[in-house]
Amino acid sequence: MNKRIKVILLAAIASLSVVGCSSSKGNEARVMRVAHNQGEEHPIHLALKEFEKIVEDKTNNEIDIQVYPNELLGGQRESVELTQTGAIDIAVGSISLLESFNKSYSVFNLPYLFNSKEHYHSVMNDKDIMGDIYESTRESGFVGLTWFDAGSRNMYTTDKPVMKPEDLKGKKIRVQQSQTNIRMMELLGGSATPMSFGEVYTALQQKVIDGAENNELALTNNKHGEVAKYYSYNQHGMIPDILIMNAKLLDNLSEEHRNIILDAANEINKFQVDAWEDKVSEAVEQSKRWGLNSTTQIQNHLKKKFYHFIEK
Ligand code: GCU
Repeated sequence: MNKRIKVILLAAIASLSVVGCSSSKGNEARVMRVAHNQGEEHPIHLALKEFEKIVEDKTNNEIDIQVYPNELLGGQRESVELTQTGAIDIAVGSISLLESFNKSYSVFNLPYLFNSKEHYHSVMNDKDIMGDIYESTRESGFVGLTWFDAGSRNMYTTDKPVMKPEDLKGKKIRVQQSQTNIRMMELLGGSATPMSFGEVYTALQQKVIDGAENNELALTNNKHGEVAKYYSYNQHGMIPDILIMNAKLLDNLSEEHRNIILDAANEINKFQVDAWEDKVSEAVEQSKRWGLNSTTQIQNHLKKKFYHFIEK
């Protein structure tokens, strides 16, 4: 079935059963569908299953959270759009993608924005900064609830390692569907190839692209490391994911239910950040076993190149 038609069908089914639906977990439970694009071992999925548990327990199953992993309700762009309209209730969107819904998210897509993981986490945990940013998409129909760690983004390639910016010349590198990410790759000399995350494995395998850029879990959880054997630790981006929710739905909940959702979102942020640490260590070990070559050689070259652009 054509992917778009599948998404529309799934969304229609979802919206039909949203209100006043009875579920196995209780009578007249309010079903809330949560969409994301990762597999069931990924820290985001584990955190969302925890969200399901907390919300259902605290509401005595008056809310029935249903988590759909693996792009089952569409790629990330589609699921964010469906959350705008309310066909999906809650979704996970990378900040890269969210910049097209509000410009305030763009700043996070700038390369080498943060000096360290600690710097990055302190900004993300700062409610004075993030509170307004989460609200910035309200007019577009959704708001942010919390953030999920997605580590640092690095280049990985199938044929040759990227050791210096010149190695990207003429290479087709997949980036997220974000103007800032596209521009970044162009400035580096690579040929930016935007596509949805779920398409990257096949694109690498079929040599439609020469590489991509992402965190370590893309190599193991999403198996990109089966095809791309060179990982260059250049750390150009620390770009988290945001848990978003349809704004009307959140506003129309009773105060009690709204607080349960907001508290649960806070709680799973800590859960996910811890799970992320563990999974990245596992991924590093696993990728060594797969014979993946990693290098940090490019990091300083790239930083210098970006600072040079900024100065200009
Ligand atoms: C990371 C991020 C996802 C995003 C993906 C991508 O895995 O956590 O939200 O979709 O990168 O590159 O598309």
